[in-house]
Amino acid sequence: MLVSFLFPFLFLIGFHRLLEKMGNVESNGSYQQHLSRFPPNEQADIEVVFGSLSKMEVAAAAKGVTLETIKGHVKGALPESMVVRLFDGMTSVQLSEKSPGSSGRVTKEQFVVFMSAILKGNAEEKKGIVMRMICKAGGTVKGSQILEFAEDLVNSVIHLLIYRKELKGWNLKNMQNSTAGVKALASQLTSELKTADGRRLEGFAALDACYDEGGLEDWLFRVPQVSSFLGVIVQQGLLPPDQGPSSPSSSHLLPACKGLRPGSSRFVSLLDVPSVAFLNSCLPSGLRREWRLLFSSQLHGESFSQLCGHIVHKGPCLLVLRDAHGYVFGGFASCSWEVKPQFQGNNECFLFSVSPTLGVFTYTGYNDHYMYLNHGQQTMPNGLGMGGQHEYFGLWVDSNYGKGHSKAKPRCTTYNSPQLSAKENFTFNAMEVWAVGEPPGDPDGKDPKSILDADPEAQALLEMIGKSRQSEGLRVPDEDGDNNNSE
Ligand SMILES: *[C@@H]1O[C@H](CO)[C@@H](O)[C@H](O)[C@H]1NC(C)=O
Ligand SMILES: *[C@@H]1O[C@H](CO)[C@@H](O)[C@H](O)[C@H]1NC(C)=O
Ligand SMILES: *[C@@H]1O[C@H](CO)[C@@H](O)[C@H](O)[C@H]1NC(C)=O
Repeated sequence: MLVSFLFPFLFLIGFHRLLEKMGNVESNGSYQQHLSRFPPNEQADIEVVFGSLSKMEVAAAAKGVTLETIKGHVKGALPESMVVRLFDGMTSVQLSEKSPGSSGRVTKEQFVVFMSAILKGNAEEKKGIVMRMICKAGGTVKGSQILEFAEDLVNSVIHLLIYRKELKGWNLKNMQNSTAGVKALASQLTSELKTADGRRLEGFAALDACYDEGGLEDWLFRVPQVSSFLGVIVQQGLLPPDQGPSSPSSSHLLPACKGLRPGSSRFVSLLDVPSVAFLNSCLPSGLRREWRLLFSSQLHGESFSQLCGHIVHKGPCLLVLRDAHGYVFGGFASCSWEVKPQFQGNNECFLFSVSPTLGVFTYTGYNDHYMYLNHGQQTMPNGLGMGGQHEYFGLWVDSNYGKGHSKAKPRCTTYNSPQLSAKENFTFNAMEVWAVGEPPGDPDGKDPKSILDADPEAQALLEMIGKSRQSEGLRVPDEDGDNNNSE
């Protein structure tokens, strides 16, 4: 999906120049077949891209381009290790008997077949190329080599997003750095690897196990992020360096970040770029366009009333916590939070872990205890919970702010999640909540300036929690996020 979305755009700008001067390729066999998978305008663009590559070197038109030429072309857009992997992938393409390809060079035919496999091919077509990108020698690879490749892949994507200014409003100063997140996401991707007999290994056994092309094919098939990251790297990374930043809509990897004042320095998110990209990819597809900061303990204070005031009736949102041991985790609420003694939500809800490991835990069908929020009641537990049951939640944030629990023996019934926090009973030192998707519309078509105007229930809640009607924290922030009151 991502690849097909990016494709027209990329070829529009990027591949002009690369293919122009390459020698003529036989109008024959696999080359024609691969080329014919691209619409005519994209075919022309591929020609141009390769032309630009071969223009950099006199011999290229006849014999193909070298690694050094591609490095010079890519400049700083990709880490060098990834350029080498791309080159190894291109040179691994087996051509017809007639043009075996000279060693150390990529021919136009190889280039086209490579692009076709990466951008249009299925897992079976990609497996050989990806194998050679992981290890030039091919044959079989170890789990540790695949993990290294996955880290390079994630790192290259983050590098590209920054290089091409595609962060969509996310400011690196307001986030964790990506060092840990790159490793966590790479581990998450490789945790899906299965051995030839269908087992998923963990820890050292997984790193030491060998995988053949069949194993890679299965992995590529079941973990579509690998292909979509490869597509981004091939498309955005091979753009000529003088093309400048690409169109703003070129990537679905990150949602737009809203609700933070530009230059705001008081807020530093618990998340980093890889974890935002990962969590966003786990959301229902209609909710991936933008995230709006609703609540941050750094900005709005450490108070359960403040939390409720900021998140109730705001549509689907992600809640993220960091416990005293540095574990970061949370839950996705698929429906607007409401204060009431019944369970709420639906099976789109999930729990997740960000640190020390990245993972998402979706509904099991065992029960419907997706979401729970109560406050100021005598007989029912007061706090916010997701999954499990009363006193035994997969994730519980007590109304006695700063405390919570994550109970799972060994798994939470609703989400099959493990214990998310370092200790079963935890204290947390930071919390943030992001609304996702479009802002909830006002059914009357009015633009509510405050949830109080729009929502008598919210007003009742306010009175219950003893907040005045003027409470600043309950004003709805401007939805465009540029001049709002988040700080
Ligand atoms: C394609 O090239 C091969 C040799 O590489 C040749 O045997 C075959 O006849 C050619 N096919 C066409 C359709 O030109
Ligand atoms: C990223 O943050 C970690 C600690 O949070 C630190 O050890 C590391 O040096 C930082 N990396 C960069 C590149 O700043
Ligand atoms: C967590 O707290 C509950 C009471 O709040 C207690 O019953 C339970 O034993 C505690 N768990 C651990 C592991 O300390």
